[in-house]
Amino acid sequence: MLRRLYKDQPASFAFTPANLEWAKGQITKYPAGRQASAIIPLLWRAQEQEGWLTRPAIEHVADMLGMAYIRALEVATFYFMFQLSPVGSVAHVQICGTTSCMICGAEDLVAVAKELIAPTPHTLSADGKFSWEEVECMGACANAPMAQIGKDYYEDLTGEKLRELIGRFSKGEVPVPGPQNGRYAAEPIGGLTSLKEFESGRKQFNASAQLAVDIRDTVKRIDGTEVPLSTPWLGVAAPVKPARVRPVEPKPSADVPADATGATVQEAKASSRGKPKTDGNAANATPLATPEAKAPGQAAGVKPAGLSAPKGGRADDLKLILGIGPKLEALCHRLGFYHFDQIANWTEGEIAWVDENLEGFKGRVTRDRWVAQAKVLAAGGTVAEAEAAAKG
Ligand code: FES
Repeated sequence: MLRRLYKDQPASFAFTPANLEWAKGQITKYPAGRQASAIIPLLWRAQEQEGWLTRPAIEHVADMLGMAYIRALEVATFYFMFQLSPVGSVAHVQICGTTSCMICGAEDLVAVAKELIAPTPHTLSADGKFSWEEVECMGACANAPMAQIGKDYYEDLTGEKLRELIGRFSKGEVPVPGPQNGRYAAEPIGGLTSLKEFESGRKQFNASAQLAVDIRDTVKRIDGTEVPLSTPWLGVAAPVKPARVRPVEPKPSADVPADATGATVQEAKASSRGKPKTDGNAANATPLATPEAKAPGQAAGVKPAGLSAPKGGRADDLKLILGIGPKLEALCHRLGFYHFDQIANWTEGEIAWVDENLEGFKGRVTRDRWVAQAKVLAAGGTVAEAEAAAKG
């Protein structure tokens, strides 16, 4: 696929104030010297703002991240999620033309796109509302054929279904994404044949479609005013509020004191590894030191009480908290956090301390709303309920 910058380019690009705030927040997610890692979300937001990715926008993002223009251009021209020419004002339709979709009818979808939108890809429809292109596999092969319209997948399509969808988009509607043939997700068309217990308690739509319905961020453009910005790691919910932007900070060096004892990060880790194990009895689990004052060079906040070992010799599976993986779970254990009820009871000051001391994962407690999730899990709630709590 030949991907080149469009022949006609605007003279300049600037983020809207709200999008600029958002972009700065994104950059703080990466450690010092790694700001270039924010290029994908920043280019994406620039595209959301303008509709397509212009050369001035790519260069503007490169400047923000201290990157050579060619590096940013390499990213923008590589991924077909980035549109390098103007797209329809309502939606750009990306039809998968790879094996499964091709076998199951992608050519019918392309024929409808040619008829209703334009005879050639990357061409605006007569009313300027739509454009289309054929793309490679988008990973929804079990629901072939499919198309991405806006940010969502419309699956199990037929030519007639796509015709109907384009008609509804044209009228200003936003049809619910996901399977369009009555399937819930990717189960057999006749319904589940096993694991039927999962049918009870599920939401109206599958997780992906439900999220699209809930956050309403589909074919619409984000211009900083009309559509809520999705910045859960900053604790910002719709409608847009001024984002709390953390300044970019250098990563703590190995010899920075890790706690009030003055031990370095490495020493603290070595010390915790060397602690004698308890007999697994909850009563014998020793609370770790909880300094009230902040240590030299340490961020504000109060270290929550930790345990030297899990209560009863068995830790909760912290990975059930959305956003915690094996590495973060191990880090929590090193800090003495083994249980949902520990996390559920953290105060704001304690959250601030943990956020600052999750080496390599700073800010994750707030970003992923661990406390809200832990409260649900500690009370015996399900993972789905915890995730719902995280989304607020
Ligand atoms: S082949 Fe179309 S989504 Fe994979």
